[in-house]
Amino acid sequence: MAREKIIELQGVSKRYGFGDAASYALKDFDLEVKRGEFIMIMGPSGCGKTTLLNVIGLLDKASSGIYLLNGRPAGRLSTRKKAKYRSSKIGFIFQNFNLIPTLNILDNVTLPLVYCGYSRLKRERQGDEILERFHLQKKEYYLPSQLSGGQQQRAAIARSLIANPEIILADEPTGNLDSRSAHIVMEELKSIHEEGNTIIMVTHNPSLTTYATRVINMLDGHIDTDIKTVADRDLPQPISVHIKHRKKSTPKTKKEPKLLRSDAEFLKKEQK
Ligand SMILES: Nc1ncnc2c1ncn2[C@@H]1O[C@H](COP(=O)(O)OP(=O)(O)OP(=O)(O)O)[C@@H](O)[C@H]1O
Ligand SMILES: [Mg+2]
Repeated sequence: MAREKIIELQGVSKRYGFGDAASYALKDFDLEVKRGEFIMIMGPSGCGKTTLLNVIGLLDKASSGIYLLNGRPAGRLSTRKKAKYRSSKIGFIFQNFNLIPTLNILDNVTLPLVYCGYSRLKRERQGDEILERFHLQKKEYYLPSQLSGGQQQRAAIARSLIANPEIILADEPTGNLDSRSAHIVMEELKSIHEEGNTIIMVTHNPSLTTYATRVINMLDGHIDTDIKTVADRDLPQPISVHIKHRKKSTPKTKKEPKLLRSDAEFLKKEQK
């Protein structure tokens, strides 16, 4: 069975400046991404990796060329449709994590579910689970400033993944992390990939390419080398197991993490 193309770039260029001052962050870039690929993008600083993720994630517009997202020209998507894609189908993991300083970790992480229209109870349940997976269950009611840099980044990554996006775009997600945190993040991305989701990740760390099904090296706005390590037919099949459904299949002691939350804020909430 032919694999579905989820992303297709045909002759995409991104130009900055005009005339003699014009420079290209992407030049005549062609790329086909099949559902279920885990692509690692490597290449020297300034070769266009972030620009590529921004174009794919609809945060930036190509200067020329064609971009098909799920077979539809992205250039013709309305602003509303683009916003919908970005909030529910595409998960971004950036290096500079922007947690909201006045919200606790649980509220920060579950914020995307507000836009999906989930009830508070449902959001908290999903938040509990994802924070447990990122080893942050004890920090739910802390403010971002009370967490270490690595913990904040893990929380930001949990937030990117909570709405179960089918495309994950990650720009050096482990760049500033210690090896233990990096391992937690990579194992989480691995399990998300095994569920059939598509991941495109920029990294400078060659040892992480063992997680990838394809490694692309970029140079000056184009693809230098492109190597698939897993054949299309062996890519994970999409399964519609969402975080919320997984919960049902592993009915762990739901109340257990609550014992860990002894802070006043939690008790206040319980009394409501
Ligand atoms: N807003 C902008 N205006 C002008 N030039 C820009 C702009 N944004 C990016 N560029 C240029 O586009 C090129 C590609 O930038 P990009 O951020 O995509 O590189 P990168 O591969 O992600 O690099 P790094 O590994 O350092 O993050 C660079 O030469 C950069 O200077
Ligand atoms: Mg970059």
